[in-house]
Amino acid sequence: MYYWTKHRAKFLIITLCAVLVYGVSQGERWFTPLAQPQAHDLNPPKYFGDMVYDVSSNPLTAEGVALGRALFYDPILSLDSTISCASCHSSYTAFSHVDHALSHGIGDTIGKRNAPPIQNVGWHKTFRWDGGLTHLDAQVMAPLHNATEMASNLPLVFERLRRSDHYPALFEAAFGDTSISTRRFIDALVQFQLILISDNAKYDSVHRGQAKFTAQEKKGFKLFKRNCASCHKPPLFMNNDFTSNNLPIDSSLMDLGRYHVTQRPQDSLLFKTPSLRNIEYTFPYMHDGRFKTIYEVLDHYNSNVMPLSDEEQTEIYTFLLTLSDYSFIRNPDFAFPR
Ligand code: HEC
Ligand code: HEC
Repeated sequence: MYYWTKHRAKFLIITLCAVLVYGVSQGERWFTPLAQPQAHDLNPPKYFGDMVYDVSSNPLTAEGVALGRALFYDPILSLDSTISCASCHSSYTAFSHVDHALSHGIGDTIGKRNAPPIQNVGWHKTFRWDGGLTHLDAQVMAPLHNATEMASNLPLVFERLRRSDHYPALFEAAFGDTSISTRRFIDALVQFQLILISDNAKYDSVHRGQAKFTAQEKKGFKLFKRNCASCHKPPLFMNNDFTSNNLPIDSSLMDLGRYHVTQRPQDSLLFKTPSLRNIEYTFPYMHDGRFKTIYEVLDHYNSNVMPLSDEEQTEIYTFLLTLSDYSFIRNPDFAFPR
């Protein structure tokens, strides 16, 4: 007892010094904050105008995008782990479902519509052919639950993500800790879709003054401006509106388009005007994928909307090919993560 009282001061000083020395030696670890997610700048071209999606509500980070990309390509999101978002939205076809008129989901069930491309979605006011969804967040949950798409549910998916050997670390890198929530799941998937910006077609190079149209493309653009651009409005080649191109109704599908959402008779058979960017890759065409080629589409316009001579059709066709963005469909950052 006496010994302890006498030497207490000494002990305390030695202990303090030891702690201090340890502290300094470990200084870097103690004082450096945990790695912060790196901001991912979108840098869209100015001529696209303001984005509709409010990025400040979900600031993009490299880690958030990486997580979203992993989820987008992962079949564990579907009930039987067979279908990923990418099953119907393939990067090589501008994220559409090539060669499938109607989308194919879980258990080979057939959907009612053609899977549209996912490109420049930050500028879309509504989603789906009928605009039934008004926020990109909702477009993440819908396919997950849809019986003919992934037929899945969040508790199941979250359980799988928590048990996986890599998702907890991906969530931690993106959001600071390993907890998996609906908000984080949606934010990450949306972040990945927002980076899918197609702005590098020949049309864009011409717009930026870096290339010139051929004589035929120029004639095609002129015809396009006269006959098509009111609905397929450059530079996004859509108008965020619901229109009709006089497509006769398919009597087996009986798809009334916008009417299903609003129930207003005047909206019957109106569909969201699709963007024509990357149209070369996104066949088959229309909400039900009824046309296999661009020429079949042009033939429809000639027969049912406005007369277009063979020569004019060829010129428009040539112009439409200037909307192909090879660097978009081959961008390694958008492909299956390896
Ligand atoms: C089974 C095929 C299938 C799967 C799987 C699928 N989609 Fe889709 N996707 C479609 C179809 C079909 C539509 C159009 C639906 C409609 O118009 O009713 C669509 C529409 C969309 C749209 C709207 C595009 C637009 O221009 O309006 C986005 C965005 C989208 N899907 C993202 C996703 C994401 C993210 C996933 C994964 C969570 C996913 N999809 C899974 C088939 C699929
Ligand atoms: C009045 C508006 C309007 C005009 C004008 C118009 N379109 Fe369309 N276009 C649409 C709508 C709406 C759809 C989708 C229709 C559907 O699926 O039922 C469409 C679909 C298409 C598609 C298929 C897109 C896809 O992803 O499946 C192509 C290609 C196309 N239009 C080209 C043209 C061309 C070329 C012209 C001019 C000759 C033109 N359009 C004029 C409204 C219009």
